[in-house]
Order: sequence, then C-alpha cells, then structure tokens
Amino acid sequence: MELRAEDVFRPGAFPEYTYISRKSKTSDLSYEFRLKQAIRVSGFLTSLVGPSKMGKTILCEKVIGFEKIVEISGADFNDDTDFWKLVAAKAGLSYEGQFFSERKNEDTKDTKKETFSLTKDKIIEYYKKENLVLVIDDFHYAPVKKRLQIAQQLKDAIRRGFKAIVVSLPHRADEAIRQNADLSGRLSLINMEVWEVQDLKEIAKVGFAILNIKIEDSIAEKIAVESLSSPQLMQYICLNICTILEISDDTSLEVKEEILEKAYRYTTANFEYGDVITLIQRGPSTRGKRRNHFLTKKGESCDIYELIVKSIAENPPIMKLKFEDVKERIYHLLKEDCKGPTPQTIKSSLSKLQELLNGREDIFRVLDWKEGTLYILDPLFLFYLRWGGNRNGE
Ligand SMILES: Nc1ncnc2c1ncn2[C@@H]1O[C@H](COP(=O)(O)OP(=O)(O)O)[C@@H](O)[C@H]1O
Ligand SMILES: [Mg+2]
Repeated sequence: MELRAEDVFRPGAFPEYTYISRKSKTSDLSYEFRLKQAIRVSGFLTSLVGPSKMGKTILCEKVIGFEKIVEISGADFNDDTDFWKLVAAKAGLSYEGQFFSERKNEDTKDTKKETFSLTKDKIIEYYKKENLVLVIDDFHYAPVKKRLQIAQQLKDAIRRGFKAIVVSLPHRADEAIRQNADLSGRLSLINMEVWEVQDLKEIAKVGFAILNIKIEDSIAEKIAVESLSSPQLMQYICLNICTILEISDDTSLEVKEEILEKAYRYTTANFEYGDVITLIQRGPSTRGKRRNHFLTKKGESCDIYELIVKSIAENPPIMKLKFEDVKERIYHLLKEDCKGPTPQTIKSSLSKLQELLNGREDIFRVLDWKEGTLYILDPLFLFYLRWGGNRNGE
C-alpha cells in the first residue's frame, strides 16, 4: 500500500513512520532506554518532565505500547474525582457492579448473582497481572489540591509493585511529586530536553525518503532550524510541503528551496498568536503620553515595543537571546543616522513587557526576561512571529 503524506508526517499523533529516537545529553542513553529502565524498577515512581510539545506523551506510548498503556490526563481530575475509580475505569474495569458467578459441583450448577465493589487492592492486582502502566499525563492540569492526593495514592501503590509515570511541565506542577518528602528516594527522574537541529532533520529525511521525495541535507537543515526545537513544528512543515507539492505542477518530486517560505506561511495558519503579538507591540499603557519613535531602514516609524518584537523575529531564529543580541538586533534594524533607544530603555521595556504578560492566560506566557537574557518560551509563537500574517502589516 502506498503511504500518504498524512500517514508519514503526523504533527498531532503518534508518528509511526517518522519516530526518531534521541539521546539525552546528560547520560548519552536514549530516552526510550531510560524510560524502559525506570519502569522496570519496582517500587519507584517515574517522573517525566519537559517543555510542552517535546514528545513526552509520544515517548510513553512508544516505550509502553498501546496495549499496555493506560493514559489519564491531569485534566480528567476535579476536586472530587475518586482516584481509584478513574484508574479502574480507564483500564476498562467497572468499579461497582454485579456479576454472575457459577458454582459447579457434581450434580447441580447454580448461578449466583453477586454485587461487588472493586477495592484498591484488586485494581492494583489487575494492573500487575496485565502488566499495565498508568501514565498521568499533563499532571499540571490537575487541581493543585488534587495533586498531593494523587501523589499520596501513588506512593502507596508503587510500593506494592504498581507501575506509574507522572508527566508534567518543568517548575510549575512537579512539586507535588519531585519535592514530596514522602516520595524522595522512590523516584526515577527523567528530564526531557529540547530538540537539536540534528535530530529534527532526521524527521524530514526519514519521512521524505518513505514518500520517495528527494530532499537535500541542506534543505532539511533549514527546515530544522526554522522548527525551533519543536518536533511538532517539523512534522507540520513537512506535511505542508507535501500538500504544496501535491497541488503544484512540479512533478520532480523534490523539496526545493523556493517552496519553503510558502510552507512556513501555510503552517502559521494553524496557530493563533495575533492577540499576543498585538499586546506586546502595544506595550503597557502610557496613559496618553506618546512614546519616542525610531526610524527603521525600511522606513517604518516604530516605538520601543515594536522594535523589540521585530528584533525577536530577526534571523537567525533563536529561542534564547542575550541582552547584547537584542540590543544589536534593534540597532541593526534602525536607519544609520537614527539615534536608537538607550540600553537602559531597552532593559526597562523588557521588564515591563514581562510584567504585562505575567498573570495572563497561558497563551500569553511566551517570553521570559531574566538575568540579562530574553527567553522565548513557546516555539510556535516565535515561528508565528516570523511567518504569520501579522508580519510587516501584511
Ligand atoms: N520521537 C519523535 N519523533 C518524531 N516526532 C515526534 C517525536 N516525539 C514527538 N514528535 C512530534 O511532536 C508532537 C508532539 O509530541 P507530544 O508527545 O504530544 O509532546 P508533549 O507530550 O511533550 O507535549 C507529536 O505529535 C509528533 O508529531
Ligand atoms: Mg503530552
């Protein structure tokens, strides 16, 4: 059977054909190996932490397999959720109910109706017997109060050989697990790092080879750089390249440089950061006072916040900019004879931006300015900034 592009490149699901195994920098072992080892050790709870969309869920699915994985999301919990009831239900067990038991003896065969309510012990036994592994994914979505209760239940269960992995974002939500004194000494910790260009490139090379589409190494590298450490973005862009090739008259079956930009622009259609960018460009309220404006090489008149946005979007795409880089990029944008904002102004504007974004919904948490470095937290945001419709007022 011939494979279609959407079977090969899968930005939203398990990438059966383009799954890439990576090594973790700290140990030189593959993530698959480390997770497999962690699950194998009885009596330990595995905590898998990493930034959004780096492949945490996919890794669990790969290592455990769809037959044996039981996935629960932190979002499945509210304050009143009965942990064991949910754990039973997700494994296909009914928690309460009735069953018919047959008691056979030599001459009679009677059927008896019994009511049961599964106990925690029975559920743990069932998981062990079937070799099931519970994955509590996106643990940060569980209500804060609930997280500690879940940790408590897990602590007791893992001691009896129950296998579980808790997956969460760094810093915010993992305290209930990683900083829980009761669990210390009983945790296997796996930190997932962001993707390197080398590994991202493989997604394109493997996928296009399967589809019999040629791609030069240098082109695969360009797409990988643009994907900003996100395998999901890489999958998205490659899929869109296929779509563009399909609808074009070009029958050469090769990914040429000319179509990359179009593919990037197509890809941004799936993201919605327009409001975030508008907010950053406007900056904090000036209470009617007009900000200083600066003239750019392109002839635009921009205030400091517009300049910051433009500087972030510049080439090459980088997720971590030192203050010097931001400053250089801003000065480089300006017309030669235009006196730019002072370093002090740039710094204080960055601090104000940080304040403006803090405390808003998750989608607005795209930047972090600390200790003289500007971190772009969300790769999709930076990608949108570079290629989205908002750019250059298009
Ligand atoms: N090992 C991998 N190889 C290739 N693509 C991957 C890999 N891991 C993740 N991806 C891509 O990234 C997407 C997001 O991965 P996911 O596991 O959902 O991230 P997370 O759980 O960390 O938010 C996947 O749908 C897939 O397209
Ligand atoms: Mg996930």
